[in-house]
Amino acid sequence: MRVLGIETSCDETGVAVYDTAAGLRAHALYSQVALHAEYGGVVPELASRDHVRKLLPLIRQTLAEAGLTIDDLDGVAYTAGPGLIGALLVGAGVARALAWAREIPAIGVHHMEGHLLAPLLEDDPPQPPFVALLVSGGHTQLVAVEGIGDYRLLGESLDDAAGEAFDKTAKLMGLPYPGGPELAKLAGQGRPDVYTFARPMTDRPGLDFSFSGLKTQVLLAWQKSDRSAQTRADIARGFEEAVVDTLAIKCQRALEQTGHRTLIVAGGVGANRRLREKLDALARRRGLRVCFPRPAFCTDNGAMIAFAGALRLAAGQREAATVAVQPRWDM
Ligand code: KG4
Ligand code: ZN
Repeated sequence: MRVLGIETSCDETGVAVYDTAAGLRAHALYSQVALHAEYGGVVPELASRDHVRKLLPLIRQTLAEAGLTIDDLDGVAYTAGPGLIGALLVGAGVARALAWAREIPAIGVHHMEGHLLAPLLEDDPPQPPFVALLVSGGHTQLVAVEGIGDYRLLGESLDDAAGEAFDKTAKLMGLPYPGGPELAKLAGQGRPDVYTFARPMTDRPGLDFSFSGLKTQVLLAWQKSDRSAQTRADIARGFEEAVVDTLAIKCQRALEQTGHRTLIVAGGVGANRRLREKLDALARRRGLRVCFPRPAFCTDNGAMIAFAGALRLAAGQREAATVAVQPRWDM
């Protein structure tokens, strides 16, 4: 089964073709980062308009790279939420229209399920059961995955998501948009242990997170500092270490609690080098397996949506031909 995947939940237009027999055939991404940079954040209306401009050319490009035409497709998967409503409607509308015209099924995919399954696109994919750490700009969740589609929430952030904490902290230190990756880059030049911030909620039982207090700690440190380039890097290093440490402590706890031996990490913050190093070290120490998507599939992309949709369509799942999206949606 060849499935076209469409991702338009936020500021990236992602398209891919996944073949249940041959694997990922092609994928393409158009990032709107430059469009939103001057506003310091994603402007929803501009995002929708740009998806309208870019989606059809990107579908043509992806099909050409796969050596396929629209007639070769057996299904279409699109991100149905959570995300920006206007942006979601662009992908949903195009997917539904395409499926209607070709008389093939279309299916709406949960954006976070897409992220969660992204590590399975790599070679030697892990099989459930496993624990998934989902760390993006909108979510920080630990999920017990007993099977595909069988997800149990173990814990989540009570306030800011990890990616959001990176972005907000970057902004208050005057780093350019998009802040998360910039802050991580800067942290690479910082010295360890010059600044030490709290590891929130690690001193009590449970698997929930809270990251909003951390940015206030950074703000106070930043205001009191000499604001030199080295100090900024040292603070960034301290902040990154606190977030990464906190995530690692809770991952270890989730693995102990479930008894699962495999951890998968997905979502934009999964691209963070220190997080990957720390979780690799944890896995080595404990004889566990940890799996990450390639960095390009940590952040938003069409491949994860094509893959998640293909699994559902191949399992016989079908939906009524209505265009329904959900800006807020529990998995
Ligand atoms: O999964 P994603 O592309 O979009 C959402 O669904 O939110 O994640 C984007 C988030 C942003 O908050 C961004 O700052 C963060 O992931 N991010 C990073 C890194 N790369 C992206 N955070 C820390 N270190 C990185 N290298
Ligand atoms: Zn995402």
